[in-house]
Amino acid sequence: MSGALTWKLLQPEFVQRGPSRFLAAATAGRDGRAPVALITGASAGIGAAFARRLARAGYDLVLVARRSDRLDALASSLHQQHAIEAQPLVADLADSDDTERVAGVVAELGEAGRLDLLINNAGFGTVGRYADLSLRGQRDMVYVHILATMHLTKAALPGLLRRRRGGIINVASTAGWYPLPGNATYGATKRYLINFSESLQSELDGTGVYVQALCPGFTYSEFHDQEAFRASGFRRERLPAFMWQTAEAVAEASLNALGREVVCIPGLHNRAIALLGNFAPRAIVSETWRRVGLR
Ligand SMILES: NC(=O)c1ccc[n+]([C@@H]2O[C@H](COP(=O)([O-])OP(=O)(O)OC[C@H]3O[C@@H](n4cnc5c(N)ncnc54)[C@H](OP(=O)(O)O)[C@@H]3O)[C@@H](O)[C@H]2O)c1
Repeated sequence: MSGALTWKLLQPEFVQRGPSRFLAAATAGRDGRAPVALITGASAGIGAAFARRLARAGYDLVLVARRSDRLDALASSLHQQHAIEAQPLVADLADSDDTERVAGVVAELGEAGRLDLLINNAGFGTVGRYADLSLRGQRDMVYVHILATMHLTKAALPGLLRRRRGGIINVASTAGWYPLPGNATYGATKRYLINFSESLQSELDGTGVYVQALCPGFTYSEFHDQEAFRASGFRRERLPAFMWQTAEAVAEASLNALGREVVCIPGLHNRAIALLGNFAPRAIVSETWRRVGLR
């Protein structure tokens, strides 16, 4: 890994540089209208934190996930608290028809010049050896993490490029930085998102459209509450407290870095882990995951 990347990964928090153009009040309606963000996986965790932060900044929102009750409750509380418009959009992004429907909404917003931010955040993990896991679950992961991101990004770009402004955040993970035994498909899909985002940003340089691969580390959310994690013996307490971040801190760091850094790894400890993950012998990475119950 180059010295430049090492330096980049160990830089101080982006958040110290002040709010980015995506949070600044000036973004709010050059044309007198509120900016709009579409967030997938908005019913919980990091996606819900993005929704709360963007509502506070004055964005209107389209909130995508499968659980309609959660989306309805979030949309109505954000409308009441911040006087913004929040529209729930129930969809299973492992289903190609549903993804097509969401892509249609993204394209319509873009064509109407009403899309400012697309956040491809929906995701989930599994625990176990690839040989033992159901192909269906791994296939669903590829659909949600990769194919839905591809599809929604493709739908968003024409409108963003025409307006020469806007952003796309693809939520990857520090897990995209090293081999991840016990979660092979997860790490590979997150690596795809990092690589895809970096290449896409290079293609878009100078267009006014910004892409980010957000790589959170361990984050408090519902992600690790799934039965698969409990059954594997994973417990949050097995990891030192400093390794955990709140979903709010992750969303804040991401929005502040958008337009400044293509790869955003919130937290110095996570940047160090991403870096070490590249250099550490495979046996050490593997043993570490075994000890925390992730393989
Ligand atoms: N938490 C962490 O430690 C961590 C670390 C690194 C990266 N990440 C990434 O951060 C992103 C958000 O995860 P989180 O931590 O906030 O987890 P979370 O609290 O479990 O939230 C996951 C969100 O994704 C949605 N989702 C899952 N499968 C979906 C599907 N098939 N169709 C539509 N929506 C779906 C869920 O909504 P419904 O269930 O209502 O559909 C939920 O809103 C994920 O991409 C995850 O890989 C998390």
